[in-house]
Amino acid sequence: MTQALAVKDVGFKDFLTRCHARVDQALDLYLPLGDDATQLREAMRYSLFNGGKRVRPTLAYASALAVSGAALESHSLLLDRVACALESLHSYSLVHDDLPAMDDDDLRRGKPTCHIAFNEATAILAGDALQTFAFELLSEAENVDAKIQIALVRQLANASGVQGMVLGQAIDLAAVDKTINLAQLENMHRHKTGALIRASVSMGATALGASDAQLKALDIYAAAIGLAFQVQDDILDVVADTETLGKQQGADIARNKPTYVALLGLEGARAKAQELHQQALAALADFGSSADYLRALSAYIIERGN
Ligand code: IPE
Ligand code: IPE
Ligand code: MG
Ligand code: MG
Ligand code: MG
Repeated sequence: MTQALAVKDVGFKDFLTRCHARVDQALDLYLPLGDDATQLREAMRYSLFNGGKRVRPTLAYASALAVSGAALESHSLLLDRVACALESLHSYSLVHDDLPAMDDDDLRRGKPTCHIAFNEATAILAGDALQTFAFELLSEAENVDAKIQIALVRQLANASGVQGMVLGQAIDLAAVDKTINLAQLENMHRHKTGALIRASVSMGATALGASDAQLKALDIYAAAIGLAFQVQDDILDVVADTETLGKQQGADIARNKPTYVALLGLEGARAKAQELHQQALAALADFGSSADYLRALSAYIIERGN
């Protein structure tokens, strides 16, 4: 990779740009267009390269930096695989989330959703393949301590499946048209969105050989921002416009989804996001300036406009 990850003297905006460029470059390299006469790769690439914010890869790089306190060059190939695996898994979750059987959305990142741009069967298959691609990327990494490699695979699998994101999505679908309480809503959000965000932070740190104490503190941080991320997603569904959002505004209300705004009101949801941001900062108390990007990412997550 040519995009340097040297950082300490780089402002947060530049850091975001560098991470974004780096993960895009790596994804392009790992998943080139093929000549197999199907639309599978095209649909996968359409869903990967359509303007996502790359929050999860950026969290992984920032977490690795918090642990290393220095440049990441010696771990950069593994970190690129971690970053691409996270983004691929996330993109799969969005492709399936938008399907008619789930949220039935036709706009994502400002473009037609995968099943609209291609067709439903292709979108299902592209999602399937993006999911397994994530694990291919991790398992094919070379020159990595086997314990670290297995830990990375396990963290991503745990965050994604029956005890993570997919469980969260199942809870979400089961909750449509139902009244649920705050504890149930939080449980849903922690699974459907929080789990992969926690994995992003833990995988970045694990790749750098973080200590148990570091992993524990980082996980408290990640659990807080993971929940805050979905609280802000719920807020944006109400306050943002479709163009800025790149997805249909008001979709949660239209589909009668339980959200933080529905339960707490707009101001209550904003206060909750702020409280979680403070929790996240407190969890990083033992880290020095090496965790500044993580601190800035927590603020970014609750202040973002899309
Ligand atoms: C959207 O995720 C879905 C949720 C988990 C709330 P992002 O807001 O990270 O979407 P992109 O990747 O930037 O499009
Ligand atoms: C999706 O939550 C979370 C995923 C696991 C994909 P939403 O359904 O709220 O995400 P958006 O608003 O469609 O991006
Ligand atoms: Mg959904
Ligand atoms: Mg959705
Ligand atoms: Mg949403």
